[in-house]
Amino acid sequence: MRSSSFWITSLAAATGAQELYITSNGTPARPKCTQPVASPSYYFQPFSFTLNDTVRYATSIPSPTTTTKYAPAYTEAAKHLTSLSTTTWGSWLPGQTGISATDTADPYGQAAWSSMWLEADLQNYTKTGLFSTTVSPTPVPTSELVLPPPDYFGPTDCYDFPEDFVFGVAGSAAQIEGAIALDGRSPSFLEKLITGSEPKDYVTNENYFLYKQDIQRLAAMGVEYYSFTIPWTRILPFVLPGTPVNRQAIDHYNDLISTILDAGMKPIVTMLHFDNPLMFVASDNIGTRILAMAMPATRMRRLLMRKCDLGVYSVHFFADHTLGRFVNYGKVLLANFADRVPIWVTFNEPLFYAFNFQGVDNIVHAHSQVYHFYHDELKGSGKMGIKFNDNFGVPKDPKNASHIQAANRFQEMQLGFFANPIFIGKQYPDSVLNTLPGAKPLNDTELKYMNNTADFFGIDAYTATVVSPADEGFDACASNTSPSNSLFPYCVNQETTNIYGWNIGYGSETYVYITPTYLREYLSNIYNTWRHPVFLSEFGFPVYAEATKQLPDQLFHSPPSLYYLSFMSEVLKSIYEDGVQVMGALAWSFVDTWEFGDYSQQFGIQKVNRTTQQRYYKKSFFDLVDFVKTRQHKD
Ligand SMILES: *[C@@H]1O[C@H](CO)[C@@H](O)[C@H](O)[C@H]1NC(C)=O
Ligand SMILES: *[C@@H]1O[C@H](CO)[C@@H](O)[C@H](O)[C@H]1NC(C)=O
Ligand SMILES: *[C@@H]1O[C@H](CO)[C@@H](O)[C@H](O)[C@H]1NC(C)=O
Ligand SMILES: *[C@@H]1O[C@H](CO)[C@@H](O)[C@H](O)[C@H]1NC(C)=O
Ligand SMILES: *[C@@H]1O[C@H](CO)[C@@H](O)[C@H](O)[C@H]1NC(C)=O
Ligand SMILES: *[C@@H]1O[C@H](CO)[C@@H](O)[C@H](O)[C@H]1NC(C)=O
Repeated sequence: MRSSSFWITSLAAATGAQELYITSNGTPARPKCTQPVASPSYYFQPFSFTLNDTVRYATSIPSPTTTTKYAPAYTEAAKHLTSLSTTTWGSWLPGQTGISATDTADPYGQAAWSSMWLEADLQNYTKTGLFSTTVSPTPVPTSELVLPPPDYFGPTDCYDFPEDFVFGVAGSAAQIEGAIALDGRSPSFLEKLITGSEPKDYVTNENYFLYKQDIQRLAAMGVEYYSFTIPWTRILPFVLPGTPVNRQAIDHYNDLISTILDAGMKPIVTMLHFDNPLMFVASDNIGTRILAMAMPATRMRRLLMRKCDLGVYSVHFFADHTLGRFVNYGKVLLANFADRVPIWVTFNEPLFYAFNFQGVDNIVHAHSQVYHFYHDELKGSGKMGIKFNDNFGVPKDPKNASHIQAANRFQEMQLGFFANPIFIGKQYPDSVLNTLPGAKPLNDTELKYMNNTADFFGIDAYTATVVSPADEGFDACASNTSPSNSLFPYCVNQETTNIYGWNIGYGSETYVYITPTYLREYLSNIYNTWRHPVFLSEFGFPVYAEATKQLPDQLFHSPPSLYYLSFMSEVLKSIYEDGVQVMGALAWSFVDTWEFGDYSQQFGIQKVNRTTQQRYYKKSFFDLVDFVKTRQHKD
């Protein structure tokens, strides 16, 4: 199967078509043959075994020789912060049912902190993980670094990655850290997202204690960039501007960054990755199972709850007051860590926090304010961007104008809504302004302020989706805001089959299909529309039912290798054949993670034993690294 996917790929590239089994003049396509087909000749000869497994090892990253400074260190940077107090809180332990602290008069004391957990009421928080302190790393044994046999068919490109190409792997705090109520962290809404018997985020991979080992394992494989996320509620347990910063959290992420740098790697930091403070969640529960926090005890939080207005469409993570709070949190992060971090992401997949017009409008404002602080006030010299989710909407019938309109509308409403002002200083798309209740255009001052406030366009380009217009047409659908109109607000049908009824690619455990040719079209669409370097900030493939297999079969998982190598090969073609500036690519994820109540979606390039926390490298990790290493820029 792979052979055909490769010549289809090159054929599609050559013709600009999506999927072609025959050439445009109707003759079957086949790869170019260099040898003419000769008649076979048969003969006997002495037999011997000649096939050996070639032992090759992954090569680790060399230790750093120089350190680059991307912003002033904390002592200097802190001059830009209005509030500087730091403190520590304890831990909220499983089984704890009452508050013993007596400092109830202190709005930010131990009692107030504990009351947040008391009210969060985590009934199934019955145990923490195996570890309670940072684990010292042990060197990765050479025996774990032997490359697996490669797949028979592989990419046929002959390009090298540009010298400054950012290659790395990614994870996110709530999906790997555990230790949710330890060392001063306060509740995020993710602790309440999952109910019933599904696994919670309480333990996950215990990366909060195992990060040194996790970094060592990445460095041993030759990974250059490690992308992680910081929970707002670890840094600022009371979340709001003017509340104290958690000393233990600052120490923790300082040490994580040092560990990464000492290993010769570079950090990429995301400020918000789904773990919104629980106190922001006011829920009307449309389409979600998010629970509101119970009656808050402290005056500060009672005030907050009152201000948390209920949204028409869903949860308001980004109600108006959240804007300034996020900007304050972003400034705290930048003042503490920006000196050593070359790449920053403000929001991960912000479409998930903003289910209505005002939410997105607030996020766009918040992002551009943090960007201006970073470059204008702090004089940060690294890069800052934002990363989006959106399955690339491709027209079901690319020859039908209304299908193309559907694809454009889908991109506009999911990406252009954020990206028009942030990247090109352009107004919100008409489709947004004409569809979303309460939508209003940005004024010229706002547009000028927001224009060009990102150094790269992050896209979590997992897969594609085939779109066509809503049956009743865009206008009829867009004016029907009733909850029963399931296509509102995009007003397009989405399918995973092409116009001939075939799947768009090889399917996975989830919504992801292997769609490398669409990726190339996607990168071109983004680059040419929003005119900034594109960062493939997440991509990955969870094999169907991988978790049910025997360990050796989980590790030798060829489909993710096909996924990563074909995507990376298309990235190279995008760079060299389409003139698209692709800044880098981050594999999701560096390890199997907690996928929001689920461990069966194994997106990882490492496996985790959930009893022992032992990690195992999977085949796709070796294949991906090998692909990049053999294509590194040579002068
Ligand atoms: C296998 O190993 C033997 C002994 O080292 C060597 O002579 C032979 O060329 C190898 N075969 C292949 C296919 O690499
Ligand atoms: C706690 O776990 C039990 C058993 O799995 C489950 O029935 C119950 O719904 C869970 N409670 C919450 C609040 O998740
Ligand atoms: C284009 O697509 C629309 C919506 O699916 C359909 O009604 C129309 O017949 C198509 N036109 C052509 C020429 O195929
Ligand atoms: C946005 O900023 C860029 C770069 O400074 C500039 O070239 C462009 O004209 C601006 N766009 C608008 C709409 O002002
Ligand atoms: C533009 O909008 C901002 C609110 O973001 C407001 O403060 C400002 O006065 C407006 N400017 C004009 C010229 O309308
Ligand atoms: C996890 O490791 C333990 C101890 O080595 C082993 O007994 C168990 O089978 C492993 N679990 C899985 C799911 O492989």
